[in-house]
Parts: sequence; structure tokens; C-alpha cells
Amino acid sequence: MTVLNAVENTLGLNVNYEFLEAGDKCLQMHGIALPEETVKSIMKSDATLKGPVGETAAAVIVKLRQLLDLYANVRPFKSYPNVPCLKPNIDFVIVRENTEDLYKGFEYTLGDVAVSLRVITRAGSERIAKYAFEEAARRGVKRKVTAVHKANVLKATCGLFAEACRSVARNYPSISYEELYVDAAAMFLIKKPEDFDVLVTTNMFGDILSDEAAQLVGGLGVAPAANIGEKYGLFEPVHGAAWDIAGRNIANPSSLILAAKMMFEWLGFKNNDEICLEAAKVIEKSIIEAFRRRCVTPDLGGSLSTKDMGLKVASLIGEVASGKDP
Ligand code: IPM
Ligand code: MN
Repeated sequence: MTVLNAVENTLGLNVNYEFLEAGDKCLQMHGIALPEETVKSIMKSDATLKGPVGETAAAVIVKLRQLLDLYANVRPFKSYPNVPCLKPNIDFVIVRENTEDLYKGFEYTLGDVAVSLRVITRAGSERIAKYAFEEAARRGVKRKVTAVHKANVLKATCGLFAEACRSVARNYPSISYEELYVDAAAMFLIKKPEDFDVLVTTNMFGDILSDEAAQLVGGLGVAPAANIGEKYGLFEPVHGAAWDIAGRNIANPSSLILAAKMMFEWLGFKNNDEICLEAAKVIEKSIIEAFRRRCVTPDLGGSLSTKDMGLKVASLIGEVASGKDP
């Protein structure tokens, strides 16, 4: 909020914030992890910024993704200055299908046998593939889409997903298209991460690969995510509640700040709003400047607390926006 308030003051942006409850504490206090009131307010808002919620994540975020049909989970991974990265020139996005697959939650126990249903649809696969190609076109850098699956073994589910990706690829002749099996993709992410542009994959593979990818560029502390549907957008860090460091004022706020950047970018494109697009740029520039000056939390080798890093980024917002060389 410190950073968001600075953005508002500096750019003359007027945002009304509503603070809504969800998660472990909410369950403890009200007996429900995702109250109806929270869902209703989200549906009335232009965008949602969400923090980690703890053990109740499945009842909160997985449910929200389904309820709001947030079918695209977009996770950018980029090398930033002074942030420990495997290579200096990493810049790719994982576009993870966000509503199907094992996350449907169709699980059954039959005595000592447990079964989980993997649901993949042609419509769901085509729309996420289309999102990935549009993203590659919008980024305009390497103009490449890599579909990640395991169709050599999962012939029905991954077979359908791969087929859908190929059929969408035919509509984008100017964007190159390749496929990788998920195990090979896990390897190439480490071997040649700089070659990737947009990876598109099914829900569970995307979950796993995005934690791996985060580690290539400094860890979960700097990895934001956007959950996007036709109507709604929900933005959050890739990381969870991190109980081991909770309450110590040392957590890296960068993922959440970068999630706010993604939120303004989405609002800007959606509503053709120049100020929101500017807000997104200013937030990213300010956080890069904080990295450059090593004004960061201990996980990135700095000595600032969570709060002080937020204050630092907020103070850089003004400098960056005024065009002064910060
Ligand atoms: C993520 C998280 C969630 C997921 C958990 C918290 C339910 O790991 O957003 O990547 O598995 O999708
Ligand atoms: Mn995850």
C-alpha cells in the first residue's frame, strides 16, 4: 500500500481500495476461508490484488480461479540487476492453464486406492493456446511459443492439449512454434533459459515449472503472477505464506509489488488507460532502481526490512516519474 499510495500521489491516479478477508485467519475467525462478501466485492471491482493466504489456499485461490473463470495464469520471469540470476538475459513468460487438469479436484478414495481425474478440454486448451500466441505477439521479442506437455504417455489428455496448440499455431504463421515434453522442458529451463519466450502448458505442469523458473531469476521473492479471464483479473505473488519467516518483517515485497505492476498493465490495456500503463512502467522502473542500489531484503543480499524496502520503492516512484535520473 505504501508503494500504491506513492503511485497514486505521483501520477494523480485515483483508486478506491477495498480490503477484503480470505485465508487461514479468516477461517479461524469466521469459520470460512473465502466469505461470500469477499467474492461479491471482487466481482464488483475492476481488479484484485491478493496476498498469500496459507493452508487454505485451495479453498481460496483455486476456488477463485474456477469461480471467476481466470483461465490464464501468466507468470513472467526476468533477470534483474543485482538479483542472483542463473543467466543475465532471461526473459520469458509461463502461460499456465488455470481452471482444468488435476486442479478440478475430482478425487476419490476407494479403500486403499485413490484416484484423481485429469480433465482437459479442447475449448480450454484452445483458449489458453490463443492467449499464449497473443502474448508472444504483444511481447514482440523472440516471437516464439513453446507448448509443454507429456503426450507420449498421457495420450488422451496431453494429446488433446498438444493438438489444440498445433491448431491454434496455424493461425499465427509469424510466430514460431515448438513443443517439449515436460521433463525435457524442466531440463532446458536450466540449460538454456534465455531461449524461451512464451511457454504454454497445463495447470499442474505450469505450477511446478513456474517455481523452477522463479529460482532461475532470484527466487519466489521476485516472481509475480496474473490470473486473467475474459472479465476479471486477479494479481498475486507466486509464493505462499512463508510461515518460517512470518511476522519478522524480512519477507521480500518485490513479488507483490511486481504483481501490482501487472495489475496496472492489465487495467491499462483493457481500458485503454494511459495513466495505468504509466503506473505499471513507473513501478517496475522503481523496483529495478531499488535492486540496482541494493536497497533490498536479506534474501537478495540487502539489509532492509520488508517495510523499509516498500518505503524505498515508494520514494523512488516520485523520482522515476519526474524523469529525474534517480
Ligand atoms: C500457485 C500455488 C497454488 C497452486 C496453491 C497455493 C494452491 O502453488 O499459485 O502456484 O497450486 O496453484
Ligand atoms: Mn505453485
